[in-house]
This record gives sequence, structure tokens and C-alpha cells, in this order.
Amino acid sequence: MKVLLIGNGAREHALAEAITRGEAKLVSLMAANNPGISSLSSNRFIGRIDEQDLIRHIVEKTKPDIAVIGPEAPLQTGVVDFLSELKVPSVGPVKELAKLETSKSFSRRLQQQYNIKGMPRWQAFESMHEIDSYMEELKDFVIKPDGLTGGKGVKVKGEHFKSISQGVEYCREVLDKHPSVIVEERLEGEEFSLQCLTDGRHVIATPPVQDHKRAFEDDTGPNTGGMGSYSCEDHLLPFLKQEHIDEALEITKGMAKAIHKETGIYYKGVMYGGFILTRDGVKLIEYNARFGDPEAMNVLPLMETSFVDVCRAIVEGSLNTFKTKFSKKATVCKYVVPKGYPEKPVKDVKIDIGKNKARAYYASIDKREDGLYMLGSRAVAFVGISDTIDEAERIAQQGVESVKGPVFYRKDIGTKALLKKRVEHVRSLIP
Ligand code: AMP
Ligand code: GLY
Repeated sequence: MKVLLIGNGAREHALAEAITRGEAKLVSLMAANNPGISSLSSNRFIGRIDEQDLIRHIVEKTKPDIAVIGPEAPLQTGVVDFLSELKVPSVGPVKELAKLETSKSFSRRLQQQYNIKGMPRWQAFESMHEIDSYMEELKDFVIKPDGLTGGKGVKVKGEHFKSISQGVEYCREVLDKHPSVIVEERLEGEEFSLQCLTDGRHVIATPPVQDHKRAFEDDTGPNTGGMGSYSCEDHLLPFLKQEHIDEALEITKGMAKAIHKETGIYYKGVMYGGFILTRDGVKLIEYNARFGDPEAMNVLPLMETSFVDVCRAIVEGSLNTFKTKFSKKATVCKYVVPKGYPEKPVKDVKIDIGKNKARAYYASIDKREDGLYMLGSRAVAFVGISDTIDEAERIAQQGVESVKGPVFYRKDIGTKALLKKRVEHVRSLIP
């Protein structure tokens, strides 16, 4: 079995590890030389990850059996459609179905049309007409561009802007760049990620994870791609019960069915739902059409079933034929990021990683002759895995502390104090 992996972040490093653990040969296409992926690859190519001529050349030369697409950008440009023309099936949706992530209105419309639970009040606008009166009606709302924004487009009233007139201003800016803008009821609660695998007919959940989007400790500072994340040994979260995870899974199953009914195409790949537990139950915030980064690093290392077998079942449509098992361990992931990230990160600066017990997954790193250089985005993810979250946190912390260079990280992720705050927050909403 030969697997072509597209992408070069920490998520793809974790995918590369899962693929090669399944004894498949790895062929990688990366935009920069990720040393972790490189060391696991039997063939590696560096270039634009959605360039058709390069992909055709790789397929002709290495003849992969399947492809696994890591990030959302190549899904949006139709790399899966192109690979399918070359007779390589992919774990990842075709362009039309990647709209699950690339168009927030596509997902909300499906949810509405097929009566799927967990929907907040929302409306999409293609012009400024009556936007302000809808804002008046909702009072507390969020504004979402209807397109990919690298995780930085959503603005929340009360956090990113204060008044309706500032909200109107932002909508105008969004409509200059995107076909539509969504104004949506602001939900209050605790967020969690449920990453599901699907062949379009059957849906399997991986353990739930909580990510930390804010740059600084105590959830302050600007939004980032995610500074770290944790999962628990019981495959629940401290503020979440099994019934909540079941609710989220039911929503994802409903969406998978709705996608097929609506388009006639089976969705193959990852449906990663961002959910929020509110006073009125579990609500859907959004879907991503790929694994989360950092959430992939929490679940892939725990997979006891061969990931390559799972990938094969996804492309064949036989995901119901075996049970996917995850080991009952806790995981904590902490990212080191360049000083100044996300707004003004230092770039092209060298770091050194000292001895530590954590697993290291390389992200925005380029390995050059004289060492590891940060490229400006999240640099290295350190993951601790253990029987208890305390121990997993200690291991991850040892990892981030071992880095020498102009970096910072969030010490609080996975700590007792932070988990307690999450539990108390939910208790204040749902006594
Ligand atoms: P993104 O991942 O960039 O699309 O942004 C999603 C983030 O915006 C979420 O993780 C939430 O923190 C926030 N968000 C999105 N929709 C809502 C909503 N309806 N209510 C409250 N927060 C939201
Ligand atoms: N952890 C957020 C994301 O992958 O979009």
C-alpha cells in the first residue's frame, strides 16, 4: 500500500506517523521541508501543494494507491477531483463537498433544510439591505464571512467589536471580498471539537478534544489557529457527558446523509464539527472538511486500529465493517510559536529543541543545512500522552520548555486550574 500525503504542517506530520505505523509506504508533497514528514517518507516532493502538473508527475512516478489531503486549501482548489481523474481515490471531499468548510452558508442551509438539530438563528446576506435590523433583532451576534479566511474572519459582538454600527462596517468589508456574509445568534457555552471519519454512508467519531484559540494564557489576546488542546482518558471532556457527544455525532450523521441527498455524492474524509455546549444543549458552530490542527495530534496517536485500513475503508465505502479503537489515554498538546505570533511573528529564525519526553510534531518549520528555521506560523507542537491528564500535561510542558529561541507558548493548557474553569463555566449555565 502506498499513500500520497499532501501538506506539511504538524497535523500532516501526525498523519504521516499514523500512515507509516500502518506499514504503508509514504509519498509526501510539501510546500516546505517538514523534517518529521521527510524522515518518514520513501519519496518526498517539495513544491506547490495544489499544482496539477506536479501532482500528475508524482502520481506517474510513484503510483500511490490512495491520497490523504491534510489542509483545506487543496480541497478548495479541487485536488481531490484532479486525483480522481488520475484514478487515485482520496481521503478528503471533492471540491463541491468541501463547501462544508469553504461556505458557511452551504452548511447552515443544509442544516436548516434537513431539520438537523443544533442550529442557532442565522441569516445570510448578499447585500447590506436589512442587515442592521437583523442585528437589532438578535442583539448578541457574530459575523462570518462566507468563505475561507484562515480562521481569522469570524468576529463576535462584545469581543471583536462593540456596536451594531461597527458590525455593519465589518459586514461591508466582508462583502467587498466574499459573495455573502452570515449574521448569526451569539452562543454562549464551552466549545469542543468532534472529528468524525466518514465514507459518506457511515460515520465514526474520534475522541472529543478541546482546542485553545486565544494566543495568551487565560484565553486572552488575538485568535490563532489554535495554541494547544487536550483530550481525556475516558474519551469525554471534564464538562461534557456521553449524551452530549452522542448529540454531536447525531448532528454529523444527519449532515452526512443530507450532503448525499442534496448532491448525490458520498462525502469521503473527515467531518470535523466545532460544537458548543450551551444552556439549550449542543449547537453546531461550523464544520471543517479535514482534521483539526492541533486536534489531529490528540486523536491520531491514540488510534489502535490501523489508520491505513480506515483510509481504505473510507474510499471503498466499507467503514461499517470494523470498529475503530482508540486507546484510553489522556493527551495534551502545546504549541511553541514565534514571538509576535499571530500578528507580527519573527520569521526565518533558528530554534533548537533540547532533550524531552514529549512527542514533537513539526509545523511551520523549514529544515535547512544548519538547523531548524521558523517560518512565522505555529512552529512545533509537543504532545504528552499518559494515563492521566496531569502527567500528559507535565510531559507536554517539558517539551515546550526544551525549546531555545524567540518563542512563546501557553503554560495553562491541560492544567487542573484551566479544566476547573471550564467545568465551572458550564455549571454556571446548566446548574
Ligand atoms: P472559525 O473557526 O474562524 O470559523 O471561528 C470560529 C470561532 O468563532 C469559534 O471557535 C467560536 O469561538 C466563534 N464563534 C463562531 N460562531 C459563533 C456563535 N454563533 N456564537 C459564539 N461564538 C461563535
Ligand atoms: N483547531 C482549529 C482548526 O483546525 O481549524
